[in-house]
Amino acid sequence: MTQAPEYVAYARMDELHELQNPRSDARGELNFILISHVKELLFRAVTDDLDTARAALDRDDVADTCLALSRAVRTQRVLVACWESMNGMSADEFVAFRHVLNDASGVQSFAYRTLEFVMGNRPRDKVEATYEDGHPLLRAELAKPSLYDAVLAHLARQGYAIPQDCLEKSPAQQHELSAGVESVWLEVYRDTGKHHEAHRLAEALLEVAYQFSHWRSTHLLVVERMLGGKGGTGGSDGAPWLRAINEHRFFPELWTFRTRL
Ligand code: HEM
Repeated sequence: MTQAPEYVAYARMDELHELQNPRSDARGELNFILISHVKELLFRAVTDDLDTARAALDRDDVADTCLALSRAVRTQRVLVACWESMNGMSADEFVAFRHVLNDASGVQSFAYRTLEFVMGNRPRDKVEATYEDGHPLLRAELAKPSLYDAVLAHLARQGYAIPQDCLEKSPAQQHELSAGVESVWLEVYRDTGKHHEAHRLAEALLEVAYQFSHWRSTHLLVVERMLGGKGGTGGSDGAPWLRAINEHRFFPELWTFRTRL
């Protein structure tokens, strides 16, 4: 047997191309699987950059944190752009193969859930399900403070008045909106010259949160375009369920303090 060229061998390209196996002859199913694979891999790329950002925060290195966050944002923009490719499919084309998905749904993606956990969205039901039979990666993530927990710990070390309960909660417990944290961000934005580093950090974090919400809202639009009022394969009522999810904001005080600015 001839040896595979190094390009193929290095990144195991032959194995990669064996992974897209449509279950129907419908036009559109191959692209649906390809884009799903691309998105899964990009979720991992963003998670990796956020992990780097979190490690830099633990060293109180804001420059490295911002660099890692800006890399994450670049990939998040690609994630949003991926919806363009999926929108090339019309609703009738989707209907032609939707039945082969059975109850498969993005809600079961452990790569997506890991990313949400890293960012800090750790609702109790998802945490309990993870302890019961979640993917090992997810369980490992719950043992670590989230990116936002790391931000608040960093700010506390810099002398900002982060409330003690935000710093002492267990990692698996989700950060809840805090008036004290909101006041800290307000202080930073009222004098950005004095709080230059914290301001840079806040802007970099907000961009990550913004891109995440952008991905979610575009997903909702794609869902309305493909499904109208139909329920999801994962058992939800579809668009209304996703609309409620769209209300969620990462790093909540970074959004709420603006009202008082
Ligand atoms: C035709 C395209 C798509 C449709 C119609 C669609 C539909 C839906 C629906 C209805 C839900 C709600 C849960 C359920 O009942 O299933 C959902 C959740 C989700 N979908 Fe999609 N989806 C599509 C493509 C994708 C792709 C390509 C990805 C990324 C790989 C994705 C990732 C997700 C994720 C991560 C959730 C869970 C969101 C959360 O828990 O906050 N979806 N999708």
